[in-house]
Amino acid sequence: MNPANQSLASCCAELYELPIVEYLLGQSFHPGGTKLTRQLATASLVSPNSRVLDVACGSGSTARLLAANFGATVTGCDYSSVNIERARQASHTAGLNHKTQFLRADAEQLPFAAESFDVALCECSLCLFEDMDTSLQGIHAVLKPGGRIGISDFFLNAPVPDSLDGLLGRVLCVAAARSVDGYRDVLSRTGFEYIRIRKVNWTLADMIQRIRHRLTLLATANVAANTGLSVDFGDPAAVLADLEQFIASGGAGYLIATARRS
Ligand SMILES: C[S@@+](CC[C@H](N)C(=O)[O-])C[C@H]1O[C@@H](n2cnc3c(N)ncnc32)[C@H](O)[C@@H]1O
Repeated sequence: MNPANQSLASCCAELYELPIVEYLLGQSFHPGGTKLTRQLATASLVSPNSRVLDVACGSGSTARLLAANFGATVTGCDYSSVNIERARQASHTAGLNHKTQFLRADAEQLPFAAESFDVALCECSLCLFEDMDTSLQGIHAVLKPGGRIGISDFFLNAPVPDSLDGLLGRVLCVAAARSVDGYRDVLSRTGFEYIRIRKVNWTLADMIQRIRHRLTLLATANVAANTGLSVDFGDPAAVLADLEQFIASGGAGYLIATARRS
């Protein structure tokens, strides 16, 4: 990874360490929360026999869910050492140490043996990586032949408005998303087949409503300064209004994609 990419990854990881991100998004840092994770895991054929890799696992909520509810054995990796430590502690508290492990790693240089996982999930993170092709090639290499990949992410039908290119747009993963065909193309050329893409726009209205509600709470209760939840998002109400309008006009949506490693 060159120095410019290094700073992009570490800047992005630091963003997701901010207490306000967990406050706004909850423990699952993606639209649809654990409900969508269950849907993605089922579509990716996660079972009690699965060895699963969660790429960019955040603070490990998906790993814990897959271990506790699907019986899978899960490895989570993330660029943020702070989130990896949070994931380890939460897993310990939940009594899931025997089914989960976490390590700090860059998604573009996965430190795992070839053909060692049955399933790889990547939720709301693929479009944050510097080079999507490189990341998918790396995931392809660590999956067993016939293994499954499951992705959830924003998709775009139009260029994002300028206001969504800022900090909140990045936290919401919308700024660098691809079109549906763009995801299909990149999966296909990195060696995946039987690609299935489903639009799950139901996740977005809920997410926007939740963030708006919590931003309002933050502002009215004036707790930000005392809790470490303070961060400059510009004018968050305006950014959210733009996002809502952009989605309503068909400019963006959310999808899950599953595919098989050839
Ligand atoms: C939107 S959060 C999603 C976290 C988790 N997948 C979830 O859905 O709860 C994005 C995550 O990607 C991680 N990340 C960003 N760039 C990365 C990279 N190059 N390698 C590994 N993780 C990265 C961030 O640290 C953050 O935890």
